[in-house]
Amino acid sequence: MKTLFKNIKELIQVRTEPVSFISGKEMKVLPTIKNAYLLVENGLISDFGTMEACPELKPDQVVDATGKMILPAWCDSHTHIVYAGNREGEFVDRINGLSYEEIANRGGGILNSAKKLQETSEEELYEQSKIRLEEIMQLGTGAVEIKSGYGLTVDAELKMLRVIKRLNKNYPISIKATFLGAHAVPANYKDNKQGYLQMLVEEIMPVIAKERLADYVDIFCEKGYFSVEDTAFILKAGKRFGLIPKIHVNQFNSIGGVEVGVKYNALSVDHLEVMTDQDMEVLKNSRTMPVALPSCSYFLSIPYTPARKMLDAGLPLALATDYNPGSTPSGNMNFMVATACIKMKMTPEEAINAATINGAYAMGLENEVGSITVGKKANLLLTKSINSYGFIPYSFGVSQIEDVYLKGKKIDFI
Ligand code: NIG
Ligand code: FE
Repeated sequence: MKTLFKNIKELIQVRTEPVSFISGKEMKVLPTIKNAYLLVENGLISDFGTMEACPELKPDQVVDATGKMILPAWCDSHTHIVYAGNREGEFVDRINGLSYEEIANRGGGILNSAKKLQETSEEELYEQSKIRLEEIMQLGTGAVEIKSGYGLTVDAELKMLRVIKRLNKNYPISIKATFLGAHAVPANYKDNKQGYLQMLVEEIMPVIAKERLADYVDIFCEKGYFSVEDTAFILKAGKRFGLIPKIHVNQFNSIGGVEVGVKYNALSVDHLEVMTDQDMEVLKNSRTMPVALPSCSYFLSIPYTPARKMLDAGLPLALATDYNPGSTPSGNMNFMVATACIKMKMTPEEAINAATINGAYAMGLENEVGSITVGKKANLLLTKSINSYGFIPYSFGVSQIEDVYLKGKKIDFI
């Protein structure tokens, strides 16, 4: 099957030479081709260039993109979209003055979601989660990472990971799975955190490795959750089972988690609402991608990751949604790109680089998605008629995407 997209007003994020990720000043550069064509063959990008250079082709399908732009589908490297029920009650509690931490200390928060998930069958969990997966695909996400971490028992954690595996099998979106058993200490281990961590390593990790249920291991390194020592323990154990670290860190406090993440070669360190100069230093000269989650800052009214400071210091940055029932009940990458520009002072070029190629790197998918490069998956966003790509974040809250193509096929769930 050959599809030719012709008369594309601007083809965005064109990388002829493959790149792993973009950092610092280079983030301001977004390579594009004006008046372009793009050829897709059997789900992969096979050729592109200017319309003048477009060869004589006999495609099976032609899409005339006059006035419209094409860019790679969004890469959302941090989500928790497999969950049961919702937490609107806590949302109202916060409006009425309780903090996220106070709600968690009362047994709400992650433990509230864990209780709901433990009581939900695998089939029902799949049905609830697939609605969110279809929703983010329609919003333009072409690759996503999904975490466990609302199970907190052997059975419930494995149930989550099996649902992720089934979603991956049934949908064209690329999915990576992360084991986040160390998301919170469950009530039955309240006074035995070490016992809980040991259980994760001894009883769950071997099954994950045997059934290939996860690519990554994660932990919530934060005061009141897990310490730097706990983090080192879990990352070291994960490595033994072939799980690469990607961690939750510096959401409320900087306690040395960034350093331990880099030490264990974490693929990414995520949240980073609080960043010290030392955290920045540690990230320099590492291959660890810092990931900002602006929707979480927006929804919880906590500081935004200091993106400007980080990029000006030469660091890379990826943007992800953190879609979850507690801190971010939304998986809209368009809103991420807009919020990065509006609240974090990132330029549209920086935000688009962060939401595509850098997001792909933060999922180990930089050779498959995240840029317009020959041989990569044809995961594409076709915009409506727009004047410039800056209009995408500028017109925040309104989607400028007309169609989403995953593996070369237009998606349509309606
Ligand atoms: O990434 N901070 C830790 N975990 C999730 C939220 C968990 C929840 O409130 O359910 C996050 O924000
Ligand atoms: Fe998260």
